[in-house]
Amino acid sequence: MAASSFCLQRFFHGGGLGSRGTTNEALCALVRRQSSLSSRHYCSKRVAACAAAAAKHRIYLRSPDLVASEYAELNLPHQVSEELGHIRIRQHVNPLSACFSMPVEVPDWNEVFRDPTLPLMVDIGSGSGRFLIWLAKRHPEVRNYLGLEIRQKLVNRADFWVKELALDNVHFLFANAMVSFNQLVSTYPGPLVLVSILCPDPHFKKRHHKRRVVQKPLVDSIIHNLMPGGQIFIQSDVLEVALDMRYQFDAEGDVLHHMDALDQSVLCDQEGWLLSSPMGIRTEREIHAEFEGARIYRRMYQKRIYN
Ligand SMILES: C[S@@+](CC[C@H](N)C(=O)[O-])C[C@H]1O[C@@H](n2cnc3c(N)ncnc32)[C@H](O)[C@@H]1O
Repeated sequence: MAASSFCLQRFFHGGGLGSRGTTNEALCALVRRQSSLSSRHYCSKRVAACAAAAAKHRIYLRSPDLVASEYAELNLPHQVSEELGHIRIRQHVNPLSACFSMPVEVPDWNEVFRDPTLPLMVDIGSGSGRFLIWLAKRHPEVRNYLGLEIRQKLVNRADFWVKELALDNVHFLFANAMVSFNQLVSTYPGPLVLVSILCPDPHFKKRHHKRRVVQKPLVDSIIHNLMPGGQIFIQSDVLEVALDMRYQFDAEGDVLHHMDALDQSVLCDQEGWLLSSPMGIRTEREIHAEFEGARIYRRMYQKRIYN
């Protein structure tokens, strides 16, 4: 994931040079001073506060700074242990390669979660894990959260953060969701209430489309394992990828409703994309993409209660 850089001084005032090299900590401190946030408008207020603070203090803002400020309340340590090492993010991995073909061993859910009977949310392609950790911290004792991520180093670091924060309702597994999702969720003792697939790797080349995580077997498995009334949230900053996912879930109209058909407060544009995210915080990829001016295409489905 390339980090974007953006001169807010130029953005807000049409010219001039900002001072480079301001640390995330300083920026976060500025944001904290200037923002008192309600959870409903958490993202937009925090970002607006961050942007305003940066503009006022003539700071060059980069999208990692926004990630740091948006997740500042987690206080995640920047320095992780030496054995975790530096995490270099390779653009994409190939989930079809032989090294990712083995199903992951199912954990003892009693060891993984304090109460393994709680409703479960699964985030497929959980990336750094900050998003799920934020949800887990904000909603303790309501749900368990499971992140499936194909890059081991990201899982190691997310595990480290979970231990640091002493959270017992969130867990990350190094797993190829295309191979292991069904086995994992079908053995979980509680109900599966929410599956999110947020900004999955796009694999743009046509001959690589089969590497995209949302394929028919995964769709079938999600629907099969989801409890009646359970939900699926998908989003992408790449329209082609969003459409690809959407076609597959829209095609399951006999088992899935789109949320706007059930709840009038859920608003969509004319094409049926959600106008806002229901999650209360943006994922990292979402922050980077919006920073670069991209739009996020979102859909949210609910499994029918009576067929
Ligand atoms: C573009 S990143 C998005 C991360 C996060 N969801 C976000 O929105 O910031 C996609 C993530 O999905 C992971 N991924 C790709 N294919 C996967 C698979 N088959 N199973 C599990 N994770 C996968 C990648 O390693 C990467 O971390």
